[in-house]
This record gives sequence, structure tokens and C-alpha cells, in this order.
Amino acid sequence: MQSLRDFGYSLETALADIVDNSISANATRIEIFAKFDGPDSAIGILDDGQGMGAEQLQLAMRLASTGPSEGRQPDDLGRFGMGMKTASFSQCRRMTVLTRKAKVTSTARWDLDEVSRRDEWYVSRPPATEVPWSDRLGETGTLVVWQNLDRIVSGTDEGSDSRTFARRVSEAADHLEMVFHRFLQREGGHRTIRITVNRRDLIAFDPFGRKHAATIPGPVERLWTKAGAVTMQPFTLPHHSNVDQNTWERLGGRDGFIKNQGFYLYRARRLIVWGTWFGIAKQTERTKLTRVLLEIPSSMDEAWKINVLKASAEPPDYVRRRLKTLIETIVSTSKRIYTHRGVQQAALAEIPTWQRIRTRTGIRYQINSDHPLIQSTLADLPADRRTQLLTVLSVCSRTLPVDSLLHDLSEAPDQVNATPISVEELDEVTRSTVAALRQRGLSWERITKMLKSSPPFDANWDETARVVGQIMTEEA
Ligand SMILES: Nc1ncnc2c1ncn2[C@@H]1O[C@H](COP(=O)(O)OP(=O)(O)OP(=O)(O)O)[C@@H](O)[C@H]1O
Ligand SMILES: [Mg+2]
Repeated sequence: MQSLRDFGYSLETALADIVDNSISANATRIEIFAKFDGPDSAIGILDDGQGMGAEQLQLAMRLASTGPSEGRQPDDLGRFGMGMKTASFSQCRRMTVLTRKAKVTSTARWDLDEVSRRDEWYVSRPPATEVPWSDRLGETGTLVVWQNLDRIVSGTDEGSDSRTFARRVSEAADHLEMVFHRFLQREGGHRTIRITVNRRDLIAFDPFGRKHAATIPGPVERLWTKAGAVTMQPFTLPHHSNVDQNTWERLGGRDGFIKNQGFYLYRARRLIVWGTWFGIAKQTERTKLTRVLLEIPSSMDEAWKINVLKASAEPPDYVRRRLKTLIETIVSTSKRIYTHRGVQQAALAEIPTWQRIRTRTGIRYQINSDHPLIQSTLADLPADRRTQLLTVLSVCSRTLPVDSLLHDLSEAPDQVNATPISVEELDEVTRSTVAALRQRGLSWERITKMLKSSPPFDANWDETARVVGQIMTEEA
């Protein structure tokens, strides 16, 4: 019996399992009550679903009432016929079910203390009025009540017990707002479900932050298999400078962004596993804003090794292979931004316009005042104007919008580009740069090589070469 109690549930996952049953019973309204009263504390989960008849209730009280091999509706969130019992006894010693269907009200109670006293699996049938919140049961529906909450209320210190109780209930509410977010919000072709915790309405929490404009959704992909279709879609969450503090903290979750990055697996629209790359990639700082939606139908349970808690899953090999390439694309995009563009280009240009300077305190970027163009301009200016120009350049360097650049690069690397240069501007810059380099006595060959490695000439080489050729003939 003890093993029945230690499946690894927490209050929040246990509550979610009971809510699963209510949803499978077509409930539209689910009310959760959590009352702290020392040893008389209780938790109740009430729904307005289809309820159960007396016989059905008797069956439901059994372990493995409907096993995995039996056919189920595609939207049934259950699988093993265990959830109600294992979830309940992970939190309490007494579970009572009160249910109503076709004007028949039935009750059934499993009390672990009673079971061990009698030394048999004894189900009692207390009068409905004895069950807390029983007056709230409607025409049809089910109420599950947990009492003797030995796993939540220790009974040693009432003050700390009551605080722990309140905290766990509030954490559980957050959890339910996320795992059932697609039921709480409108979704095409499905009914919306209202869930309350101590009369407070739960509000859908979307882990992809789709309502924020700064969230970047990737393309939706579908993988068809014999057991059904897997849907995948990557998202990049907004950078912290783009959302308010509350939103940022909520998106990060209790464990923070690094641990919450990864796949978010939905089974029949209910979020079951998240914050893992299934061993395909590592959770890194660089990818901490990446979350990938995965959706599977319950017909894939076996292929994905869904367990009783519905809290672990393993993608089958053919899906794993596809996920691997998906992640590689995501990761290599962010790698390219940080290494290639940032470091290499700045280091390889022979006449850089920007310098990357590593100091003891960090890395700075500044406009290269040794650039021949700047040098020749300075040479042409009177002394007081020279200082002025240097000040302007220094202010520009110091106010480089690093945060905003970093944010844009991490979210939409393909869309970040420098302002394109016009042909006139390029010709002008080429002429002045070449003139300055000629003044330093450099050969044409050397000058061509320098320009070829440096922006903006490298990216506009045909036009630059044409102008250089022109200058050469002019000089000759
Ligand atoms: N709120 C409810 N309304 C109507 N029927 C319910 C409700 N809760 C449980 N049942 C019935 O009791 C049965 C047993 O529930 P239980 O959670 O133990 O198993 P399951 O949902 O079938 O599978 P799983 O172990 O995956 O949760 C259900 O299959 C359902 O028929
Ligand atoms: Mg269940």
C-alpha cells in the first residue's frame, strides 16, 4: 500500500491528475477548494461533468479500473485507470468520491487507516451530507475530497503548516494555469473550461508568451506517423527589455529560463512534460529563450512511453531524428551570430571601421579612429574642429545600443542588417580611403588587398573594384 503512495506526485501534479478526469468527463466548470484547518484540513475537486452511476463508481475505485489496452476516446486524458487513486493517496489518507448521474447520487470512500485496521480493501459509503462541499454538487458531476492530508499538513506546528499549505496551493494554481492553459483559453473547435481555486478564476498561462508582440514564432511542422501526427513549432521568447518585470518572471517560471528551455510536450492539448531537450541538446544560456512546442495525440502514448503520472515521455527514434535537426538549426543560428559575425569579422578586416577591444573588465566596441578615412579627414581639419570630430566619434562608440542589438540578434538574426550603403556613398568612401592609403605610400596591390578584407568594400566588391580601376586610370 505504501508503494501506492509514492509514485512521485506533488500537490500540483496530483491535482492536475484529478482535473484530467473532470475534463475527460466533459466538465465545463471545475472548482478546487482548499481549506486549512489543522488536522481537519481538506481539499475538494468538484466538477459539473457527466458523473458516474453507482456501478461505475465502484469500478472507478479499483486500481487499474480501465487499463491501457482498452479503447478510449481520443480526448480522454486517462490511460491507466490509476490516476485518481495514486494521485489522491500521494497527498491524503482518506479519499471520498461523491458523484451524481441521472438523479442518482453515490458515494464511496477509501480510508487507508480503516483499510489497515480491517486488513482488507474496504470501501465505505458515507452519507453525502458528511462530505465537505457536498451541497455544491449540481445535477450531474463529481466531487473528490481529500482528508487527513498527512503529506501536506505535518501537524507539528500549526503556524508553519498553514503557511506551507497556502504556498503549495498557490503554486498548484500557477501549475494548473500552465498545464491546462489551452483549455482555459478559447481554442478553435473546443469548449473552454473554467477552473477556480478557492473561488479565484485561473487565467491561462501560455509558456510561449504568444500574446507578446516580441515573441518570435518559428514555422509549424508536421511529422506523420502510423500512430498519428506530431506537430512541432519553435518559439523564441521576448528578451527581458521587451516585457515588464512580472511577465518576465512568470515566463521564467520557478526554475528560471535555463531550466525551462526545451520541448513543451502536449498530449491531447494538455501540457505533460516541459523544460527538457530529451537528451538531444544541452540547456545553455545561449538557447535559454528557446521553447519548442510538440503536440501528440494520446494514440502515441505507447510510442512515447507515457507513464502513469504523465510526467515523463521519450520521443520514438524517428521523431528524435527529426527533432535533432530542428535543434541543430536553432542552435547553429545563435552560434553563428555570436562567433562568426562578432569576433571573426572584426578581427580579420585590415581596415576595420569598428574595433573590438578586450579589457580586464570586458569587451568594448569602438569606432577605429586610425581608419584612413578618419585620419585624412582629421588631417584636413583645423585643430579645434579635430577635437570636436574625435568627441563625436567617441560618443557614438560609447552609446552603441548593445542590449538592443543583442536582443535582435538572438531573436531574428536574419533580420539584423546594417543600413545599406548607396552607390554614391560607396564611391565617395572608396575614393577618400584610396587617396589616404596612397598618401601613406602603399602599392595598388596592397590597397586592393586591404579593401577586399574590409567593410563596406568587401560586401560591395564589384563596385569598389570598378572605382579603384577608375582612380588608377585617372592617376596614370
Ligand atoms: N470526475 C470524474 N467524472 C466522471 N468519471 C470519473 C471522474 N473521475 C474518475 N472517473 C472515472 O473513474 C475512472 C478511473 O479514474 P482514474 O483517474 O483512476 O483512471 P483513468 O483516468 O482511467 O486513467 P489514468 O490512470 O491515466 O488517470 C475513469 O476512467 C472514469 O471512468
Ligand atoms: Mg485519470
